[in-house]
Amino acid sequence: MGMTIAERAVLVTGANRGIGQALVDEALSRGANRVYAGTRRPLGHPDERVTPLLLDVTDTAQIQAAAEKVGSLDLLINNAGIALYDDLGDRSVLEQHLAVNLFGTYGVSQAFLPLLIRSRGAIVNNVSLMALAPFPLTPAYAISKAAAFNLTQSLRALLAAQGVSVHAALTGPTDTEMTRGLDIPKASPEAVARAIFDGVERGEDEIFPDPMSAAMAEGWRTGEVKAMERQNAAMVAPEPVDA
Ligand SMILES: NC(=O)c1ccc[n+]([C@@H]2O[C@H](COP(=O)([O-])OP(=O)(O)OC[C@H]3O[C@@H](n4cnc5c(N)ncnc54)[C@H](OP(=O)(O)O)[C@@H]3O)[C@@H](O)[C@H]2O)c1
Repeated sequence: MGMTIAERAVLVTGANRGIGQALVDEALSRGANRVYAGTRRPLGHPDERVTPLLLDVTDTAQIQAAAEKVGSLDLLINNAGIALYDDLGDRSVLEQHLAVNLFGTYGVSQAFLPLLIRSRGAIVNNVSLMALAPFPLTPAYAISKAAAFNLTQSLRALLAAQGVSVHAALTGPTDTEMTRGLDIPKASPEAVARAIFDGVERGEDEIFPDPMSAAMAEGWRTGEVKAMERQNAAMVAPEPVDA
């Protein structure tokens, strides 16, 4: 079952540019009543429904302070991310990617979980098609996104009994700063943001929000790997109703 965005409170990390900025604008145009815009530097926004939040996803104290400022939340979108070119020769580059793309996603999700359980809300992790197949020019990035995708799948199974749905956007090439210099067809951030919310509204576990990823949707949803995920998830016993 999906969630409509109208009248909801939505938090987007990495909200100042790229896909994050488009997600903020799209949430507003779908009638969200509050959009928390998480950014590393102070952000102004002309729409009074936007509440800026100082939120470096690698900073535990900032995450905690942000969670204390938010009264209620229906949808958390873990969108903040970094992508650097590397060749796996430098461990610190891998650690940098894991700090933002994996532990940032984990830390923010954990901090806002009590609010999401209360609202029976949802989490969207903006992962990447590279979670499924790495692009060898950015292997550290791909590893961090594969880990974030696996985290998404486990959280989905673990939180289902508490009414929180957990989605992965398996985003393909999108025209932002992150892909500047890559001469390949790219979707617009606005189209990707629309497709991510469409996927949430339809209740899709995996959201394929651009033409390249969309070509894989059917194969993924009907494939053996997805069947195995469902089988494994069924082993997590739901909590007793009166607990
Ligand atoms: N573009 C693509 O082709 C593509 C494809 C698949 C997935 N994605 C994913 O989509 C998400 C958004 O990427 P984008 O394409 O919009 O890239 P982008 O334009 O480079 O934006 C990245 C955003 O993440 C923020 N960020 C980076 N480190 C952060 C931290 N430690 N704490 C909080 N915010 C942080 C940046 O903030 P600052 O301005 O402060 O640096 C910026 O707002 C990322 O997770 C990315 O991996 C993108």
